[in-house]
Amino acid sequence: MKIGVIGGGQLGRMLALAGTPLGMSFAFLDPAPDACAAALGEHIRADYGDQDHLRQLADEVDLVTFEFESVPAETVAFLSQFVPVYPCAESLRIARDRWFEKSMFKDLGIPTPDFANVLSQADLDAAVACIGLPAVLKTRTLGYDGKGQKVLRKPEDVIDAFAELGSVPCILEGFVLFTGEVSLVAVRARDGETRFYPLVHNTHESGILRLSVASSYHPLQALAEDYVGRVLSKLDYVGVLAFEFFEVDGGLKANEIAPRVHNSGHWTIEGAECSQFENHLRAVTGLPLGSTAKVGESAMLNFIGEVPAVAQVIAVEDCHLHHYGKAFKSGRKVGHATLRCADRERLQQQIAAVEALIRDV
Ligand SMILES: Nc1ncnc2c1ncn2[C@@H]1O[C@H](COP(=O)(O)OP(=O)(O)O)[C@@H](O)[C@H]1O
Ligand SMILES: [Mg+2]
Repeated sequence: MKIGVIGGGQLGRMLALAGTPLGMSFAFLDPAPDACAAALGEHIRADYGDQDHLRQLADEVDLVTFEFESVPAETVAFLSQFVPVYPCAESLRIARDRWFEKSMFKDLGIPTPDFANVLSQADLDAAVACIGLPAVLKTRTLGYDGKGQKVLRKPEDVIDAFAELGSVPCILEGFVLFTGEVSLVAVRARDGETRFYPLVHNTHESGILRLSVASSYHPLQALAEDYVGRVLSKLDYVGVLAFEFFEVDGGLKANEIAPRVHNSGHWTIEGAECSQFENHLRAVTGLPLGSTAKVGESAMLNFIGEVPAVAQVIAVEDCHLHHYGKAFKSGRKVGHATLRCADRERLQQQIAAVEALIRDV
């Protein structure tokens, strides 16, 4: 079976690494000449709106899936004419736009930070009067790794904020004084069967994920599953979806969803019976889902800008290196390490051992 993937970054690469042993092959559509998934499949180098190449992809593969959500709606609609596409066009339409996404949470009774649609500076002024400061202004589409957002703390920060983000549609959110950030990675099959991985505790710096630690038992697991289940059913979702939450006052507030495999689920490659990548492929191809149970105590550390010396990383016991084969670039995710340990104490020690190797660039 041949799978078409829109996007050829590290998520596509790890999908191929998981699917190849199941007898799958891959074609990636990505305009970047150095798309790092290209090492593991065919690379159709074309823009996401290039209908000739989208048609070529559709003709070559059995189904199409995505490794990033910022795909134009027309691309999804075009592909859907010729080949099955999972998750569906509606899931992508909602997940790529923060206004649609947060409005859906509200409709489904899932708590979120206060939010307002901002289409002009006048809208922003009105939203700040209502929501108050501090607040976060975010572009509705195309933001990632903290890009396309600005924290507004003082009235002066508000004055040019809309123009500073490019005068594009935005949302304003109340600033959440969270006690922690967690994410739930879920997988839903074509027949609606749904499985959840354990909640993961995430630490971000400058908007970029640094560390994810899978929990053994989390008191908010059932609540998170309830919220995520509502979204999956509403969208009749097929595949892996990640849901980021803020932990506040012993409860959860929804931050965002990603309609794809997610950085906070990378630990599952070694830390779970069946990884998020394999489970996504199982779901979209109609195969039985795999177990989401944790194997040992597990954490993931991102390498941003550069991967430390390979020999040093793999010299840390219980450590598994994933090098994405990407060129050095400041602020770019170029690899990660997973730790899988027998107990929590050992896990903390090994996290510190890997952290000591990381040099921020
Ligand atoms: N409303 C908010 N209040 C406080 N912190 C926030 C808020 N929104 C985002 N952040 C911080 O910025 C990070 C990135 O924001 P997020 O909306 O998840 O965008 P991205 O698509 O870049 O991941 C979050 O993980 C969190 O640490
Ligand atoms: Mg996020």
